[in-house]
Amino acid sequence: MEKKKRILSGMRPTGPLHLGNYHGALANWVKMQDTFDCFYFIADWHALTSDYENTSQITGNSMQMMMDWLSVGLSPEKSTLFVQSSIKEHAELFLLLSMITPVPWLERNPTYKDQIVQLSNKDLSTFGFLGYPVLQAADIIMYLANAVPVGIDQVPHVEITREIARRFNYLYGDVFPEPESVLTETPKILGLDRRKMSKSYDNAIYLSDSPEEIRAKTMKMITDPQRMKKTDPGNPEICNVYEFHKLYSDQQTVDRINPACRKAEIGCVECKKIMAEFLIQALAPIREKRSYYEAHQDMVMDIILTGNEKARKVAQSTMASVRSAMKIKGF
Ligand code: TRP
Ligand code: SF4
Repeated sequence: MEKKKRILSGMRPTGPLHLGNYHGALANWVKMQDTFDCFYFIADWHALTSDYENTSQITGNSMQMMMDWLSVGLSPEKSTLFVQSSIKEHAELFLLLSMITPVPWLERNPTYKDQIVQLSNKDLSTFGFLGYPVLQAADIIMYLANAVPVGIDQVPHVEITREIARRFNYLYGDVFPEPESVLTETPKILGLDRRKMSKSYDNAIYLSDSPEEIRAKTMKMITDPQRMKKTDPGNPEICNVYEFHKLYSDQQTVDRINPACRKAEIGCVECKKIMAEFLIQALAPIREKRSYYEAHQDMVMDIILTGNEKARKVAQSTMASVRSAMKIKGF
């Protein structure tokens, strides 16, 4: 049997997952479980790079994130699901890689420059924040991953990972494959206010939202901005609510809404009400699984510990090769 290609990806535990996270990443992670040998982990040390001043939420958020993962169908039987800070080998590899990573590679990282501007309320002039991609490189090459499914914003980090892996192999001999990023087509759903869906914009619908919350949030969604009155014809192609219809409603409804909107035969309030019910229905199985795990957190803990165990084995074996290649095994 041909060996499955290894995939690795991670997420920072910054809070509950929303529909943007689901369609942008998780749905794809779930699908890949059947074709690849998948490693998915919670990057809790990475969460520290910007939130080092308040660490009280990180562990709780990690637990919440694992519950979100399990409820959308990431499976501990198919994939290795683990938590970064449990695998101390990441810290060792990070340190060793930091010795061979030129600082200018990090300083010209577009994500770095961008975040410093975006998060100007935080002091990000730390060594850890600059070194973010080095830790990420350690996460990736530790598992000898061939490919990394990520959003477009993470491509520079995977690029730096490839450069670091290449440099390591050049200096100490071939240990690491050079991982590739895999970008996936994702539907363009926006937040309630038509900006990118994001926790920090307070415009997100969460996987764990109750039906009441979903109804209330849907009512706040901005539709076709040109459509002021119910008698104005609308344009579904530029309406975010219509994007949601295409993802969640049945075909018959989608086909009916489009011309009805254009001819002003349906108002936005009615249109939203219909969509909200389809969305609630679509999320029902996720919500159910989530409440099951909420009530069985000991099971979630077991899943994490088992995943950690599997990840640790691989990490220990990689570190043995790394130490031997670098001729620094300790005494
Ligand atoms: N930087 C990633 C993000 O913010 C999270 C991450 C950390 C990651 N380590 C990784 C993603 C390794 C892929 C592979 O989304
Ligand atoms: Fe959007 Fe529906 Fe309003 Fe048309 S009727 S603008 S599709 S919410």
